Amino acid sequence: MAFPVQRPRRLRSTEAIRKLVRETQLAPSQFILPLFICPGEGIRREIGSMPGNAQLSIDKLINEAEECRQLGIGGLILFGIPEEKDELASGAYASDGIVQRAVRALKQNVKGLLIMTDVCNCEYTSHGHCGLVKNGDVDNDETLHWLAKTAVSHAEAGADVVAPSDMMDGRVDAIRNALDRAGFVNTPILSYAAKYASVFYGPFREAAESAPQFGDRRSYQMDPSNAREALREITLDLEEGADMIMIKPAMPYLDIIREARMQFDVPIGAYQVSGEFSMIMAAGEKGWLDLDRTVIESLTSIRRAGADFTLTYFAKRAAKLLA
Ligand code: PBG
Repeated sequence: MAFPVQRPRRLRSTEAIRKLVRETQLAPSQFILPLFICPGEGIRREIGSMPGNAQLSIDKLINEAEECRQLGIGGLILFGIPEEKDELASGAYASDGIVQRAVRALKQNVKGLLIMTDVCNCEYTSHGHCGLVKNGDVDNDETLHWLAKTAVSHAEAGADVVAPSDMMDGRVDAIRNALDRAGFVNTPILSYAAKYASVFYGPFREAAESAPQFGDRRSYQMDPSNAREALREITLDLEEGADMIMIKPAMPYLDIIREARMQFDVPIGAYQVSGEFSMIMAAGEKGWLDLDRTVIESLTSIRRAGADFTLTYFAKRAAKLLA
């Protein structure tokens, strides 16, 4: 039985009925705000290509985190800009490294806000690659030691969740083992399981000062053309002990989020990355798109595809819009 009996517009005729049958809901608790932490005091250094985002010193971070807590945001994910970079990414796993200090300060000053840390090396190496470079390429197995040490140092500082974003093979296994040996059996791993070699990370590399000095990341991050491979990556990370998985970027990869949702019964995060943020901001600033509506629609699409939570630079704006 079709038209004229069937009239889908009946359920769209008023906001009241639209609300009743709405399938996808957004809540601030589903948003994770990425933040960039730099050394010093009283510093808020705006990031040109990401309006409204800034590198923050730890004292400023505390204020920002408290605001997020009050807005009901799900949590933060921290990226560090160290005092110094070197070939061995020493700043990544130093017990008094920038992220480790930031986590300690947050845990002391902002109670009840979930603190995630990004586990990677690209912000800490002089060449900007995500691991130890040997013969012009990142050496997988040596890099695993750095990642394991970094994750343990974050857990020691008090991180609630560690999130490896390096895309080395076997890193979840290495991190799980190291955490367990150090007594952190209850620290969950959110793996950036399907992370693509994406042009949309451009603005982030300005923010985190982590652009590779030579070559690119295509020997470790995934080829944007591949979907089946994403499922294989996710399967491997889950076998190695990942508690939650992430797909990154988000909007250009909604098909991957949906496919993962259908195949895996674990919490799925999506990362609306810097380039997605900057595109939307730029169109909003030019008046080409209504910024607030674009923010909500983009986040809704990511959730509708199947993400349980979203890492987004719009976390505060969206939380305010939903209030
Ligand atoms: C570190 C890392 C990157 C992002 C998150 N973690 C950059 C990269 O892989 O080059 C990108 C996030 C964003 O663009 O917002 N490896």
